[in-house]
Amino acid sequence: MNTTGRFQGMTAIVTGAGSGIGKATAISLGQQGARVVAGDVSPDRLDALIAEQPALNLVAIAGDVSVQAEVDALVAAAGDRVHALANVAGVMDGFLPAAEVDDDTWHRVIEVNLTSMMRLTRAVLPGMIAAGGGAIVNVSSEASFRGSCAGVAYTASKHAVNGLTRSVAACYRGNGIRCNAVAPGGVRTNVDGSFRSAHAGQALGPLLQAIVPTPAQPEEIAAVIVHLLSEDARNMNGAIVPCDGGWSAL
Ligand SMILES: NC(=O)c1ccc[n+]([C@@H]2O[C@H](COP(=O)([O-])OP(=O)(O)OC[C@H]3O[C@@H](n4cnc5c(N)ncnc54)[C@H](O)[C@@H]3O)[C@@H](O)[C@H]2O)c1
Repeated sequence: MNTTGRFQGMTAIVTGAGSGIGKATAISLGQQGARVVAGDVSPDRLDALIAEQPALNLVAIAGDVSVQAEVDALVAAAGDRVHALANVAGVMDGFLPAAEVDDDTWHRVIEVNLTSMMRLTRAVLPGMIAAGGGAIVNVSSEASFRGSCAGVAYTASKHAVNGLTRSVAACYRGNGIRCNAVAPGGVRTNVDGSFRSAHAGQALGPLLQAIVPTPAQPEEIAAVIVHLLSEDARNMNGAIVPCDGGWSAL
């Protein structure tokens, strides 16, 4: 399998590139030759990424993926030909269950975790269709398979990410475009995994303590994302790939 220079001459967009899984993905794509347009809502994190990786071809664009105009700026920085899109940015929901979730949390989580992925995908598809190819990977979650990993908003958003992924895969398979998702279990990142609900703590805490495998490193998830974006995965389309230490098998 060819793992060096797989993205030479290609342009990739990575959202959430300032931290965790998105940062590891941006670095890996850059190391394999891509010009990477790295988006994040935190300009400080993007500055740190650029300072850490001076040898890579990274273009940092600060912006909020839940705002259409900021998605437009990210895609404009990439130019007309985007070969690969990694929709990684996402936020948690304090494990708020259905009786406790507030509208702000619900809307924010759906906008950032789901609507942003649709907007990025919608923006890059015309160029990919015109060029006859492209690859998209959405970061889903173990919470897309079960109801015990997060609150109602996060769980619903990640279930919907799987549907988005399959719809894009089905509709554009004839255009040389592949769309897959990676579903991580626990990963050591800066994601806010705190509980804002005592009820959720009681209902879900014991389950999580019993079956959650040791958390992964972000690079372990990035390796799967980058594989799915590469030509090595040309026979994969519409797959929701668990990368969770076996959690989904339990
Ligand atoms: N860490 C885990 O255990 C875990 C498990 C399953 C799925 N995931 C998913 O992995 C993805 C990446 O999360 P992570 O764990 O690397 O978290 P992280 O918090 O370390 O990184 C997420 C990055 O996204 C950025 N971001 C957040 N909201 C944004 C917005 N509106 N616009 C642009 N950028 C924004 C943050 O600033 C941050 O740099 C998310 O979609 C998350 O749901 C994480």
